[in-house]
Amino acid sequence: MSKRKLSFVLLALVVVASMVLAACGGQAETPEAEGDQLAVGIVLPTRDEPRWIQDETRFRDALSAAGYSVEILFSQGSSARELENVEALISRGVEVIIICPQDGSAAAAAAETAGAAGVRIISYDRLIRDSGAVDYYVTFDSFAVGAQQAQYLVDNVTGTGNPLYLYAGASSDNNAFIFFDGAWSVLQPWIADGTFVVQNSSEAIALQDKSDLTRDELAQIIGQVTTNWDFNTAKNLAEANLTAAGADAKGEVFILAPNDGTARAIADAFAADGDVTNYYVTGQDAEMASVQYIIDGKQSMTVFKDVRTLVQDAINAAVALLEGREPEARGSYDNGVTEVPAIQSPVVTVDADNVQSVLIDSGYYSADDFTNLP
Ligand code: BGC
Repeated sequence: MSKRKLSFVLLALVVVASMVLAACGGQAETPEAEGDQLAVGIVLPTRDEPRWIQDETRFRDALSAAGYSVEILFSQGSSARELENVEALISRGVEVIIICPQDGSAAAAAAETAGAAGVRIISYDRLIRDSGAVDYYVTFDSFAVGAQQAQYLVDNVTGTGNPLYLYAGASSDNNAFIFFDGAWSVLQPWIADGTFVVQNSSEAIALQDKSDLTRDELAQIIGQVTTNWDFNTAKNLAEANLTAAGADAKGEVFILAPNDGTARAIADAFAADGDVTNYYVTGQDAEMASVQYIIDGKQSMTVFKDVRTLVQDAINAAVALLEGREPEARGSYDNGVTEVPAIQSPVVTVDADNVQSVLIDSGYYSADDFTNLP
């Protein structure tokens, strides 16, 4: 590989402000043609959820391991801020933007703006909808996330008439639909046969004999049980559901919670209800606080999504685009306008039984991060 090409590949990933190690000589070198321009920019949705801090950390780890610094911009839950971030990166001359949209449809404007400026767009974890300017999508198997959450509830249920409480992510996030769709694919037969009785969604009850839901039908249920990915919304909704429920809708209960942040909030609400004798609650992301909840018996499971893989997939795709190649795709996702080439990573169910082997022994977290590990 020529020295010029090597520099190009390395520069592809990062904000190269001053130092670039030329791998040929192992010496510091100041890039000439590229100056201090960004080749790739990264935009993440919010600093307020540990999930996205995980992604930030893993991007920094992956890039600094190679000797580079990186600038990551956060949209703080605002699509307007997200667009500003994208415009700022474009004005700095980026060629590729890796973006996890705050709102999948609203982000179409940012994608179109980037596309018009000749900037390639990688949709990261969440799909940007309704835009033809999305070049590539790196994601986890989000259908499997929901299916594994539901399977955990099914694996722990016996008898009939078991109270089931459903919660979902934000309707503005395409993933919320895929998660719920995956969960529904597993839960629906068990709701239809009376094993579970849905307590908090008249729309889910009305649709309980239907195995395949349309996007509109999913939207109707999600509209009733959305947490908006927000801790307080989740807590308030769970409390309202518990207030509305009679004692026969309590006892041992089963709770589909969409992610770890909302799972902890919902779990706290159910734990505080004197008529709830036992609960099973799902999650996702393997956030440290939830791993501790699992160890302490306060959350039943989480779905581990190894962010290191997602970050590496995004970096590989960025390098390919910068080199003028199309990134390797294994499938595609329909974003409402086009089929976006995609790569997706598997996910793993974690509960108290395998937290040590999956999260600690693998080096993802350190044993010191937790107390009372089994
Ligand atoms: C992500 C989840 C995350 C949720 C809330 C989803 O799009 O896939 O990992 O918990 O957003 O931020």
